[in-house]
Amino acid sequence: MAVDITPCVTRPAASVRRGLGLGAALLSILLLAAESGDPPAAIPEPILHARPALTRVEVAAGEEQRLSIAVTSPVDARLIAITTDCRCVSAVTATPIDLTAGTSTPIELRAVGVLPGVKTVTLRTTAGTTRVQVQVVTTGMGTGAQVLSSTLARARAESATVWFIVHDLRGEIRNCGCSAGSLGGIDLLAALPDHCATLDKDLPTRFVLSGDVDGARAGVGAALAQAGWSLGDPGVVVTADPESALAAPGVIAVIPTTAVAVEHARLVRPLLSGGMIAEVLLVTSDGRISESISLPIDATLPARPGILAAFREPLSSTIDDTVQPCRSCASCHVAAHRVWSTSAHARAWASLKPSDHTDACVSCHSEPASPEATAQDTKKTIAPNVQCASCHQGSGAHAASGGRVRTGGTRDCRTCHDARHHPGFNPIAAWAMIAHGK
Ligand code: HEC
Ligand code: HEC
Ligand code: HEC
Ligand code: HEC
Repeated sequence: MAVDITPCVTRPAASVRRGLGLGAALLSILLLAAESGDPPAAIPEPILHARPALTRVEVAAGEEQRLSIAVTSPVDARLIAITTDCRCVSAVTATPIDLTAGTSTPIELRAVGVLPGVKTVTLRTTAGTTRVQVQVVTTGMGTGAQVLSSTLARARAESATVWFIVHDLRGEIRNCGCSAGSLGGIDLLAALPDHCATLDKDLPTRFVLSGDVDGARAGVGAALAQAGWSLGDPGVVVTADPESALAAPGVIAVIPTTAVAVEHARLVRPLLSGGMIAEVLLVTSDGRISESISLPIDATLPARPGILAAFREPLSSTIDDTVQPCRSCASCHVAAHRVWSTSAHARAWASLKPSDHTDACVSCHSEPASPEATAQDTKKTIAPNVQCASCHQGSGAHAASGGRVRTGGTRDCRTCHDARHHPGFNPIAAWAMIAHGK
């Protein structure tokens, strides 16, 4: 019988060899974030790399901060794309750009103070792919629910019309992580018009989507249009020439597509696109903008049920909820099994909605059901919940030998409780909550 059942593999050897030169704490963050990273072991120097491997930026709520990294390729190459797993970190430097062998090329990034956590920046080049992490430290901007209720109260006091504007949604469904403060997507946007009407049915509101609404997911715009958003509005102008647009009559908001020097209340500079925030303008009866607010679209706002089902993301594994791997341990480890079965790990699957049964979500909330499954298998069967073997590596062989073969040690809690999915995770306090033994 094959042995190791760990779904996620960390690779200390490869990363240390590359000489990241960081403290142990940072290193472990990096290892976690590198989960699905580049190939392990024996990477010959020189290699394609970007430095620093981890940058920490402190950003005030809603503000932005520039940071710079440098990418070096061993051969002449072209940097094709810079992507991030959170729209709160984005590239300022335009791609593609050419990389000269052995010479470091500076890349400018922008971080916005919305959601704290470690974000991954992926640089795709013709010589391969490399990644860096950006740790965004921010107090954020308050929750969506708080910001929305204070905004509506203000609009009511001023008899203002409330314009909600989201630019370049690009079909985004979910953005970052899964903790309660995380950002949602179209299910939250879709609920917003009805929710506002419930909170204040007499308040005049406008919901406008501009730019690219669908991205790679056809139908997002249509679904949101059904929920009360309009796809474009003559009052909302997207332009490379904001100054003349600002002077035009009837224009409520101008979204510049180029960097602009002018300051103007009608100028909406989406700090983030992708549905993570909606820009909110309060327009008074005389046409003045009395307030411009960024509304975080997060899980504190209600979601419209069902809408995500039409845009389901892929799940490459098969779910088998009849398999209960921990049962095979229970006969010999009665006490441990009892503790586990009352812990959050035994309920981790129930936290996922059916629409969350995607490759991006199941990994930490389930366990490969067959011991033969490896991280490389594309079509594997998974058992719901965080099982004994999710932590006790090599416990399949241990159980099969009746306990004679020792297990392969426990997995680092932070492979799942990482900065993104569990900010502020305290391993000692957490262990106290699940402590178990024989
Ligand atoms: C890297 C591992 C990991 C991945 C991937 C992951 N989760 Fe989680 N999830 C966790 C951990 C750890 C917790 C416990 C966090 C806590 O107690 O604050 C958790 C908790 C949750 C909870 C319950 C508590 C809460 O914070 O609301 C929900 C719901 C959830 N995850 C949904 C998701 C969804 C949806 C996805 C996919 C977008 C996902 N998870 C992907 C590790 C992960
Ligand atoms: C395979 C991924 C994984 C590993 C490894 C893991 N956890 Fe978890 N843990 C989760 C998920 C997912 C949840 C959220 C369960 C839920 O509520 O849906 C969670 C929840 C918890 C909770 C409950 C959190 C709360 O606030 O109620 C504690 C405590 C916890 N884990 C401790 C640990 C400790 C200690 C370790 C290491 C010994 C560890 N976990 C390793 C995935 C993991
Ligand atoms: C969230 C991760 C996690 C899960 C899930 C988990 N364990 Fe553990 N387990 C640990 C850690 C960490 C220790 C402490 C290891 C140590 O002291 O070296 C431990 C300790 C143990 C021990 C005691 C080892 C000793 O030397 O005394 C046994 C037995 C055990 N676990 C069995 C189980 C069984 C059976 C299950 C499932 C019913 C389970 N564990 C689920 C993380 C986990
Ligand atoms: C046939 C009985 C049996 C089964 C089944 C069994 N164990 Fe054990 N296990 C033992 C014995 C015996 C020991 C060593 C004596 C002791 O310290 O209790 C042990 C020790 C352990 C330890 C601590 C020592 C080590 O090797 O790390 C862990 C952890 C553990 N078992 C986890 C598990 C898990 C997880 C499963 C299920 C996949 C499992 N066991 C299934 C009998 C069993």
